[in-house]
Formats: sequence, structure tokens, C-alpha cells
Amino acid sequence: MISGTLATHDGLLHWLVRCDLSSASIAPDSSPDYLSTEEIKLWKSLRTDKRRRDWLLGRSTAKQLIADMLRERIDRKLPLDEITIRPHADGWPMVELPPLDGLMPVTLSISHSHDWAFCAAVAGENRPLGADIEFNERRSAAFAEEYFTPPEIQLLSAAPAEQRDTLTNAIWSGKESALKAVRRGLAEDTRLVSCLPHPLKHEPSIWLPMRIIWNGNSPTRPELTGLWRPHSEFVLTLAVADSISLYSGSKP
Ligand SMILES: CC(C)(COP(=O)(O)OP(=O)(O)OC[C@H]1O[C@@H](n2cnc3c(N)ncnc32)[C@H](O)[C@@H]1OP(=O)(O)O)[C@@H](O)C(=O)NCCC(=O)NCCS
Repeated sequence: MISGTLATHDGLLHWLVRCDLSSASIAPDSSPDYLSTEEIKLWKSLRTDKRRRDWLLGRSTAKQLIADMLRERIDRKLPLDEITIRPHADGWPMVELPPLDGLMPVTLSISHSHDWAFCAAVAGENRPLGADIEFNERRSAAFAEEYFTPPEIQLLSAAPAEQRDTLTNAIWSGKESALKAVRRGLAEDTRLVSCLPHPLKHEPSIWLPMRIIWNGNSPTRPELTGLWRPHSEFVLTLAVADSISLYSGSKP
């Protein structure tokens, strides 16, 4: 598990990465104690084992993150079943908190892959925020040609050969984060946005900058700041509407 905070101009961005194999063994007729009554119903209605497992892992990670983030505000840890994460009709997660003094609305983004989840949250309602975790696998040359923009393809050709697979997954993940931040996901063409990750440095475990550029005429798209980092067999990306100070107030 790794977690941290990043300073944005509009407050802290909190993030958490977790692997939890136990979600796989929870039977669909049980009722995990961290889910609200409404969530239990929703979880049971999901069709496949894989979807139930991913959903549960995303919910348990997101609730852990939100409870830790709110702990300072209320001087105690909010019971996880008092946090409800409801899916909007378009799929993005909406957070409902109990009416307690000191609590503020929260914007959340969830991602899961191969029994790992990555969640990010900021204080405030409807803030552009996207988080994505992607398994760092080898992709075919046709993959970049089909989904990437010319600046992304150019970045890959100029990159050191040993970094190409990782950067390809970082670009793909960056697109998912950016498109989640505008709550569209892959309902949009992936070439609507160019994500240009800074190549890896010697120290792998730090957030690196990733430029996010909207293509075409899209005046309503917010300007996004992107970050990425490799973690274990994955790459992680974040997209947020405020500029992030990578050093001051950020950990780890
Ligand atoms: C967002 C999307 C790209 C993520 O796909 P993915 O890489 O397979 O999955 P990830 O694990 O990285 O992310 C999944 C999470 O993204 C979030 N999400 C789903 N749709 C979203 C959207 N439109 N905007 C922002 N976040 C979204 C959800 O929290 C979801 O997890 P959950 O369903 O368990 O809560 C994909 O789900 C998508 O394109 N959705 C929008 C189009 C669509 O199919 N809509 C159907 C409406 S139900």
C-alpha cells in the first residue's frame, strides 16, 4: 500500500494505492461491513464475479482514503459504512457523507486493475479529477497508431527504447485520467487529448509531470495538470484542474 498528498492551489489532493486479494473471496450472499445498505444492494446486482470484485476493491479503497482524509475535520475516523459512493448514470463516483459539522463535499476518482486499486480525492464538489492505474504491459505498435496523437507517437519515438513500454502505458493511463476528470471516460475519442509524460528519472518512486493538451476546438475543457509514476507492475496517473506543487507540502 502506498499513499500520499499533493499540494494543489485549491487544497490537498489525497491518494491511495492498495492491493487486496480478499475482495476475490467475498461471497455475493455476504454483506461487507464497510458498505452502506444501498451499496450492498448495488453490489449484489452486479453481474459477474470480476465486476463484483473490482467494484468492492474500488469502494473499500476509496472509503479508506476518504475516512483518512476527513479524520482531521471531525477528530475521529468516520465509520466506512456511513460513506456512500453512488454511481452517476455516466459511471463516475458521487460521494455522500453524513450531515456532520465540519464535513465538506468530496470529489473522488476510482481505478482498479489486477486486484489493485488507486483512488484520489479532493475537498469540494464537482472538481475535475481523474486517477488511473494501468498494468504495465507490452502493447503492439498498432495500439499507439490507433489511439495516440502525433505528439504522443513522436514522444515515444524519441524516448529511450527501454522506457517505451512504460511510457506507452503512461500515455494511455493519462488519457483515461484526463477523460475521467471531465467525466466522459472512453465515451470520447482518445485522440481528443494528448498526454506527454516526462521520461523516467533514476529515482522511480516519485511523481513526474505529464503535460495534458486538449486537441481541436474544446473551449469547455478545463486546463489539467497531469502526473505519473511507475509503481510495482503498474503505472499510475493523475489529472487535476489545479496546478500541483510537486515539492512543497507533498509526500512521499
Ligand atoms: C471511465 C472508464 C474509461 C474506465 O474504464 P477502465 O479503465 O476499464 O476502469 P478503471 O478501473 O480505470 O476505472 C473504473 C472507474 O472509473 C469510474 N468511472 C466510470 N465512468 C466514469 C466517467 N464517465 N467519468 C469518470 N469516472 C468514471 C468509476 O468509478 C469506475 O469504477 P466503479 O465502476 O467500480 O466505481 C470507462 O468505464 C468508461 O469509458 N466509462 C464511460 C463510458 C461508459 O461506458 N459509460 C457507461 C455508463 S455506466
